[in-house]
This record gives sequence, structure tokens and C-alpha cells, in this order.
Amino acid sequence: MDDWIKAGEIASQAREYGKKLIKIGESHLEVTKKIEAKVFELNGKLAFPTQISINNIAAHYNPLVDNDFKFKEGDVAKLDIGVHVNGAIGDTAVTVDLGNNEKLLKASKNALNVALEITKPGVKIREIGRVIHEEITSLGFSPIRNLGGHGLDRWKIHTEPSIPNFDNGDENKLKEGQIIAIEPFASSGAGLIYDGKLSEIYQVVINKNVRDINARKILKFAYEKYKTLPFARRNLPFNKLQLSVGINALKREGILHEYSTLPEKKENCLVSQHEHTVIVGKTVTTK
Ligand code: CO
Repeated sequence: MDDWIKAGEIASQAREYGKKLIKIGESHLEVTKKIEAKVFELNGKLAFPTQISINNIAAHYNPLVDNDFKFKEGDVAKLDIGVHVNGAIGDTAVTVDLGNNEKLLKASKNALNVALEITKPGVKIREIGRVIHEEITSLGFSPIRNLGGHGLDRWKIHTEPSIPNFDNGDENKLKEGQIIAIEPFASSGAGLIYDGKLSEIYQVVINKNVRDINARKILKFAYEKYKTLPFARRNLPFNKLQLSVGINALKREGILHEYSTLPEKKENCLVSQHEHTVIVGKTVTTK
């Protein structure tokens, strides 16, 4: 259990450090790098690449190798951090408002708080979704239905059960000691996301032999360092040609999965998110 507590503490500290760095005019890539450096300084490792998703993009917005940008006035920036210690994970998110969106931020924050209040052994999973939905709609926003919390396991960022942001009818009950992440998203749009552009975040699906030499080198590096956890293209120490040839081969062979960014269906809407990791019946590790 100690590793889970430690991972949560580091994730929480990195989140508090990181949210102060998100300011108008700062670079997405530079801020991300500083936050990841903080995780290492605190003796944690990345459970997934640090993501800062802007405005209508709900999640999985990772700085691309060739396409950095600066935060601007009015942005709603969701900072999502995953830290692991020996594979035990702390997953936490906060939203930074560079405009006038206090109410939107309050919706996901309050929803997380009411969900945490009822998160106890024996509570039905649908109940968590129900209170999240109720809280967010009471402030005039929509919870995102096809995105939500999840179980966590060593070296696994997404396991059963799904923790919904609405009443999904799941009668299963939470168990003592179960580790879950709860992450309400509040949206001024449709409350639905879709698979958008590719994110340059990958995950090893199966570790098997591959003929291409670049692919083999990348796979060896990635699997030794990240095992089955997601990682970013920008964090791979290979040149552009090696990356382009090697990653294409790995994707073609079904060895690597590439995540998509997750934009809201409604183009000009805004999304906020707050997230904590919980050991059910024990503690919130990322408080
Ligand atoms: Co999560």
C-alpha cells in the first residue's frame, strides 16, 4: 500500500506546482516539461505523459513534437498528472481558468467532492455517477458521459470498473481497499467526446518480435521504461527518422496503440475536470 500512498502524494505535489505555471503566454511544452521534471525530483515516475488539455479538448492533449503553443487569455486548461512508484499509480487532475469560467470549474470540483463523500465500501457504482450528474447539471452544465473514472492496478492505468459521470445502471458495489480514480468532466457543450487527432501518446499492447531495427530499439526502450503504461513520442530518445520509421512499424504490427485527443462534439464549448485517486474505505491518495 505504501507505493500507492507515495505515488498519490507526489502526483498531488506536482499538480499544485504545475497549476501555478499555467499562465497566459507560457509555452505548453515548457510547462509540461517542468511538471515532469518535478515528478522526477520527487522520486516519482510518469504513469502517463503529463497532459494539459485546452478548452473543448477534454483529455489526452500532450505537447506534440513539432507543434507547441502558448496559453492565451480565456483558456480553460485541464492539467492531468499520473505518477507511479513501482507501478502503483496516483492519477489526479485540476483545471486552471485563464478566463472567467469560475462556475464551470466549480461544477466539476463540486461533483468530485460529492462523489468522494459517498465513496465507501458497499456503495453502488451507479450512485457515484448519479451524484456527479446531479451536481454538474444543477450548475447548468453537462457531465461528459463517454469519459470517466476507472479502476487502477499496478502498471495498469485503466482497469475495471468504469466510474461513470452519470447513472449508468451499474449495480456493482465498491469494495474495501479497491483503488479507483474519480474524474468528473463538466461541459458547456454536448457532454460527449469523440476520437480526434492522434496524440503522440502510445502504449505497448503486446511485446513481441519485430523485424525493423528502429522499431526493435524503440520497443526495447519503451517496454523497459514504461512497461504497459502510456508514454509520449517527445520522451523517446531517438531521432526523427528513427521515430517515424520505427513507430509506424510498431503500429502496423499491432504492437503499439496510439491514443487520440478527445475533443467535445460541440466545437466552441469549454470543459473542466477534477480528479482524485481513492483507496476505497481508506484514503484519497492525491488530496
Ligand atoms: Co484518470
